[in-house]
Amino acid sequence: ALAAVRPRDLEGLRVTVTAGGTREPIDPVRFIGNRSSGKQGVAVALAAAARGAQVDLILAHVDEGVGAAASVPGIAVSHAGTAAELLTATTDAAATADVVVMAAAVADYRVPQIADGKVTKEAAGETLTLELVQNPDILAGLARDRRAGQTVVGFAAETATGDALVERARRKRERKGVDLLAVNEVGWEAGLEASENSLFFVDAAGDIVGRTSGSKRETADALWDAIVAVRAAH
Ligand code: CTP
Ligand code: CA
Repeated sequence: ALAAVRPRDLEGLRVTVTAGGTREPIDPVRFIGNRSSGKQGVAVALAAAARGAQVDLILAHVDEGVGAAASVPGIAVSHAGTAAELLTATTDAAATADVVVMAAAVADYRVPQIADGKVTKEAAGETLTLELVQNPDILAGLARDRRAGQTVVGFAAETATGDALVERARRKRERKGVDLLAVNEVGWEAGLEASENSLFFVDAAGDIVGRTSGSKRETADALWDAIVAVRAAH
């Protein structure tokens, strides 16, 4: 099917998009990661560039080939491996951004003491306990520090369904303080690695201001429609 023709309604806007999953090192050869492919975030960046925005795309770990798809005019790609690196890169980029979209799957916890050498069975024995500490919430920080006129958007991947999903989404929108939260229902099959997606959007009043399903590019365009509407209402 032909993609709907979208207006160049993001012309003149500078946007920051994060994509992929962070990897938190345990030792020189191991990490804690997640199943984010980066496809949705890259689709959000591509949709923005196609609509005229100047895009800073910050990639954490993405699946093979996903990053290459983003090398198009209008998108400047940079890389951040860990949550700490992503915090620095995103804070820098956000300083000049009109819109920030955090589509990256940020590890909630990291290993506070990364081992200098490989953790061995000989040293660890029958069981191994890893201590984890919480990472800073990048999105909540961006929302708290945002300038007048800047729009901060989060993503939430949830395994809840029905009313519980909507309630959780409202609470998360509130806790993060974002202008818009894009909510993605995920399970073992749906969402993270799939190329089709369904999203709904919760605004600052807690209202659901859009629902979309389709390819990650189609849902990305629907997200930008919702962002444009939220900015117009400010
Ligand atoms: N996020 C972030 N920094 C973190 C964790 C999450 O910026 N340390 C961002 C994600 O990029 C996403 C949003 O917050 O845009 C929601 O992430 P999610 O994992 O759904 O929320 P959490 O607050 O981590 O809550 P939980 O995982 O416990 O549901
Ligand atoms: Ca999380």
